[in-house]
Amino acid sequence: MKNYCLLFLLLIAACQNNASEKKEEERRENAVAINTNGETLFKNNCASCHKPNEKYVGPALQGAANRWESRELLYAFVRNSQEVINRNAYAKKLYDEYKQSPMLPYPNLTDNDIRDILSYCETYMAP
Ligand code: HEC
Repeated sequence: MKNYCLLFLLLIAACQNNASEKKEEERRENAVAINTNGETLFKNNCASCHKPNEKYVGPALQGAANRWESRELLYAFVRNSQEVINRNAYAKKLYDEYKQSPMLPYPNLTDNDIRDILSYCETYMAP
């Protein structure tokens, strides 16, 4: 009888362990999936003009979020830069600085997509 009890307890312990391991695994997979979204979007849409950490056709995207007075304005700029250049001094200054070469509009990118792209750039490390 004593042995059965021990066996039973071991079984419960094993199950609990499995459950928490599974959760940890899921958490890690989700974290990677988010970064992959940002990386893929960046490479497909932005990399022809931007590098994460240095000036290229456009400015380096690292630190870009801090240069804007609000996230809403920055997201609006990525979706339609011309519209924001017309009403915001910082955007206008940037546009003039980059010799009025316009950025393409990305009306289909969501706030989350843009956040993922920028956070991919923030964590990017030059090889
Ligand atoms: C055709 C070239 C081009 C492409 C493609 C492009 N950009 Fe730009 N981007 C620019 C230029 C040039 C500027 C400087 C402002 C201007 O000229 O309008 C800029 C400015 C920016 C800024 C402001 C940076 C700062 O210092 O405040 C952000 C943020 C940005 N781009 C994000 C993106 C994202 C995200 C993508 C991809 C979805 C993208 N850009 C694709 C050319 C491009």
